[in-house]
Amino acid sequence: MKAFNNLIIKTLPMVPKPIVHIFAKKYIAGPFLEDAVRNTKELEAEGSMTTIDVLGEFVTKREQALHEKEEVSRVLDAIKDHNLPSYLSVKPTSLGMGIDFDFGYDNIKELVDKAKKYGLFVRLDMENSPYTTMTLDMFRRFREEGYENVGIVIQAYMRRSEEDIKSVAEYKPNIRLCKGIYKEEIDIAYQDYEEVRANYRRLLKLIFDLDLYPGIATHDDALIEFAQEEIKSRGLSKDKYEFQMLLGVKDNKRREIIANGHRTRVYVPYGEDWYGYSTRRLKENPDMAGHIVKAIFKMN
Ligand code: FDA
Repeated sequence: MKAFNNLIIKTLPMVPKPIVHIFAKKYIAGPFLEDAVRNTKELEAEGSMTTIDVLGEFVTKREQALHEKEEVSRVLDAIKDHNLPSYLSVKPTSLGMGIDFDFGYDNIKELVDKAKKYGLFVRLDMENSPYTTMTLDMFRRFREEGYENVGIVIQAYMRRSEEDIKSVAEYKPNIRLCKGIYKEEIDIAYQDYEEVRANYRRLLKLIFDLDLYPGIATHDDALIEFAQEEIKSRGLSKDKYEFQMLLGVKDNKRREIIANGHRTRVYVPYGEDWYGYSTRRLKENPDMAGHIVKAIFKMN
């Protein structure tokens, strides 16, 4: 069954979009900002904070990036107006960093500046390896220009990550630590599941050793347990870290983490540009493949 599911996942690009949408729905708040606001309020009632992401990436035209910036700017207004326990996550390429570094920087700076005025935080999501150095450089530039309300993501599958953490430690960054989702070559990223886990543990320890604030972003029970043990043995108070999960993934685990007295934050993506994000999520969860097949047959 597993091999069959993996085969389906490989052929996902050929699955009709409406079918993908049926299974993608649970990972996305909906097409509109109001959907993200509604989801955030529901999660707040459960005791979670959120980070809101407008779906979109690898923009190739300046107009697209400017349009994205306007939409993201509306998110900041919504967080302020509704007094939500949220901040912003942005993909630098969706705001034009891949077209031109300065163009992307200026777009994101407008958002960071507005967020600063509102007392809000902006996370630069980490994309694939061609953008790692650029994204970290962007973070440094924000810090050099006096913006404290910007954070980064470190991916545990990347071989360079330990050096990257050390290279930005002087800025005392808020770091989301995740495994990493993009397809990378073996010389760039660990491919083996246990190797990635081992590096995640190493990097989390390093982040704590350096007295930095981690967003512990994983659904992996073993890593969540490891993190909770580290927190306990180091006697860390709950304002020194948080756990982060994706919308629609392992809700019960999140509730368990909250019950254990930790803070949690859910990544809430919304928008009409849902396809790339959703197919990456589906590939992480091959059990979904069987359902996709069933749905295709039901359609015929
Ligand atoms: P793993 O993939 O091993 O999953 C552990 C278990 O969780 C699985 O066995 C399964 O039970 C469950 N699970 C995981 N994904 C699931 C899914 N989609 N559906 C159902 N069950 C699922 N990546 C990146 O490259 N750049 C980034 O900026 C971010 N940002 C980010 C923010 C937040 C808040 C999170 C939680 C994750 C990211 N990621 C990311 C994605 C991350 O790199 C990684 O791909 C996923 O979190 C899956 O890795 P896990 O650590 O959960 O382990």
